[in-house]
Amino acid sequence: MIVLGIETSCDDTSAAVLENGSNILSNVIADQTATHSKYGGVVPELAGRCHIESIDLVITNALKQSKKKINDIDLVAVTVGPGLVSSLLVGLNTAKALAFSLQKPLIGVNHLEGHLLAIFLQEEVEFPYIALTVSGGHTDIYRVDDFGSYKILGRTRDDAAGESFDKVAKMLDLGYPGGPIIEKRAKLGDPLKHQFPRAFLEKDSLDFSFSGLKTSVRNIISKRAIGNLTNLSDNDIAAGFQEAVIDVLVNKLFLACKKENLNRIVVTGGVAANEALRNAVAAKAGLQGFKCYFPNAVLCTDNAAMIACAGYYKNKYKPPSIADTLYLDASANLKL
Ligand code: KG4
Ligand code: ZN
Repeated sequence: MIVLGIETSCDDTSAAVLENGSNILSNVIADQTATHSKYGGVVPELAGRCHIESIDLVITNALKQSKKKINDIDLVAVTVGPGLVSSLLVGLNTAKALAFSLQKPLIGVNHLEGHLLAIFLQEEVEFPYIALTVSGGHTDIYRVDDFGSYKILGRTRDDAAGESFDKVAKMLDLGYPGGPIIEKRAKLGDPLKHQFPRAFLEKDSLDFSFSGLKTSVRNIISKRAIGNLTNLSDNDIAAGFQEAVIDVLVNKLFLACKKENLNRIVVTGGVAANEALRNAVAAKAGLQGFKCYFPNAVLCTDNAAMIACAGYYKNKYKPPSIADTLYLDASANLKL
């Protein structure tokens, strides 16, 4: 079974060719960092235009690298949401045209399901498990019982974790996207120089809130600018901020395991590329005898292989009808 995956939900144009659900024959990603970095964040109008410019070449390269011909494709899987509509529509319309002209089935995939199942590109995880999905748009904890069976246990009430990394990097004028830059700077700083607040919310809550932390970073930067806290370097702020985020993520993740009485964990999404987060989860899991799984960094951030993978399983357990395919539409706030 050969699946062509297409992902354009935000600022990465990606196409992948996947064999039998886990063998990645190609996974081409054209990122738009150069376009958006001068604005310190993704500009939706520009993202859509960039997708239009690169999608054909990205798909062509994915096919070329996979050594497959377009007619070898058995199924086209495309992200239909959540995301920026102007970005999603580029991938969706391209996928529709391809599937229609090839007379092959087309399946719409929820981007979050792609993140949740990305681990299956590397190894099979026994169900049920707890998944922490941490990306630029989402910070969610799910109980995953089976392919297609997901129960949300907690989510952010304001900013996503990745978004807070991006905003803090912007406040410090460090560039975009903020996650990898903050991670690099944090390695050079002292997290104990300033203790940033942790929002644990109500007792036993599995929800998150990062807006207070962001405001706290802003206040500290302002104080430093007027001559207070001058011993606090950008690196120290990055380290203190990152530690505060990780502290909350790890705390809630293990609380979810306790509540659901589960000891298997998957951490996924762009922020899961963060080594300090991976190490913190792995250390606590080790102490408690839990098993934890992390997709490789390239499979944590947005990519079409995870969409092809989710499409493969969705098709296996619930194949789309022709009507589903014809009426597929993009949805900015698609729920899982
Ligand atoms: O999953 P993703 O590629 O796109 C969305 O679905 O949002 O996640 C992108 C987010 C960005 O906010 C980026 O700053 C963050 O993931 N990110 C990281 C790291 N690499 C990417 N955050 C922390 N540490 C990283 N190494
Ligand atoms: Zn994503």
